[in-house]
Amino acid sequence: MAFLAYTQWSTAPCRGNFAVSKRKNMKTKQTIAVIGASGSMGSAISKNLSKGNYRLLLCSNEQGKLKATVQDIKKSNPSADVETIDCSREATWEADIIIVAVPFRAEQEVVKKIKEVANQKIVVSIANPLNATYDGLVTAPDTSAAEELQKLLPNSKVVKAFNTTFAADFTTPVIDGKQVDSFIAGDDEEALQTVSELVKTVGFNPIVAGKLPVSRILENMQFLLIQLGMKYNYNWLAGWKILHK
Ligand SMILES: NC(=O)c1ccc[n+]([C@@H]2O[C@H](COP(=O)([O-])OP(=O)(O)OC[C@H]3O[C@@H](n4cnc5c(N)ncnc54)[C@H](OP(=O)(O)O)[C@@H]3O)[C@@H](O)[C@H]2O)c1
Repeated sequence: MAFLAYTQWSTAPCRGNFAVSKRKNMKTKQTIAVIGASGSMGSAISKNLSKGNYRLLLCSNEQGKLKATVQDIKKSNPSADVETIDCSREATWEADIIIVAVPFRAEQEVVKKIKEVANQKIVVSIANPLNATYDGLVTAPDTSAAEELQKLLPNSKVVKAFNTTFAADFTTPVIDGKQVDSFIAGDDEEALQTVSELVKTVGFNPIVAGKLPVSRILENMQFLLIQLGMKYNYNWLAGWKILHK
């Protein structure tokens, strides 16, 4: 899926009316920064997004670890527009959309680096704020990882997405013949639509569940799925599906 990104052109030098109107009608790529792209989720999201019309900027704590992610992407999709970048600040500055694919406890540190340059941008919160023993959430009941991220980035458009799917689901987004649903929450309509397209591109069925506080439910849903997965041995390949007429 391609997007019209007029804003990218607005600062470009004009070379006459024809060039301007041609540019306005061109579908341009959106640039996505994936912070934590060497991890299970970051690499899975990057690999699947590379099949879409996106430019991907990958970064993590240790750049060396990203080689494997890039090789894996290029192996399955040689024409993928993907590069590594050694600073989350630089990646965020260039990006239209930022996916924060790091553990919840690392988000404050990441935010310090990207705060200034993430203004007005879409920031995707994928975190499930689980405790160390996986038997509870570290966030209070009246908040969520996504809302905490929004507080830290008040001028960004935080959207909750990808938290209700396991990393393994990205290789198998259709389980038992059913396309896994992937829930999205946020306060900005346009950002929700943009993130819905990302979810479609990676292979899941996007469902906009509500405003950002709905993230509390979404994060608890994944907590429940983890508990059930451990109890019934789902082997980390499980997802949610709403059955309806
Ligand atoms: N795994 C799942 O199935 C799943 C499902 C839904 C949501 N999630 C959520 O997705 C997020 C990532 O989980 P994961 O399982 O992919 O974890 P992971 O495999 O441990 O990967 C974490 C990634 O974050 C990077 N990172 C850690 N601290 C950082 C920092 N201070 N600055 C920049 N990068 C940093 C790591 O980079 P280095 O390797 O270079 O340290 C690595 O790329 C978590 O919030 C988790 O709750 C996970």
